[in-house]
Amino acid sequence: MSDTRTIRLTVNGETGSYTVPVRQNLVDFIRNDLGLTGSHVGCEHGVCGACSIEVDGDIVRGCLMFAVQADGAEITTIEGLAESDRGAALRSAFSARNALQCGYCTPGMLATALDYVEAGGAADRAAIRAHLSGNYCRCTGYQSIVDAVCDVIEGRVEA
Ligand code: FES
Ligand code: FES
Repeated sequence: MSDTRTIRLTVNGETGSYTVPVRQNLVDFIRNDLGLTGSHVGCEHGVCGACSIEVDGDIVRGCLMFAVQADGAEITTIEGLAESDRGAALRSAFSARNALQCGYCTPGMLATALDYVEAGGAADRAAIRAHLSGNYCRCTGYQSIVDAVCDVIEGRVEA
């Protein structure tokens, strides 16, 4: 069996074909082959959430999916969210609330928080914490991250 495969996928609105090793995970492909380094790699075991990206509208762990499994998918990374302004209010709120320190967790946090906000999630601190519970912040910025998400839901922040 060949140990590479050609896939076709759309990343941040750009469609292309790529030949990838069958064992390469999606986040390594995005970072190393596409040069989109906003998605971070922490544990590589599906635990920390640093690699969270949007695949066909769902938030997935980029370290637990092979690039070949994304054949035909539509992917949005943190760079795509920034270009589309979809996460602009959350980014403003994270800055205003000092919800990022080293920023390592921030791309994954923003993607996961945006998923909550866009689904119409309530400004309910327990529910927000539960939704973000798969994303670790080693700087332990959780309180201010939840503050930022509440600010966006309650309309206290402009993009
Ligand atoms: S790097 Fe994927 S969950 Fe930690
Ligand atoms: S801001 Fe440093 S890991 Fe979250």
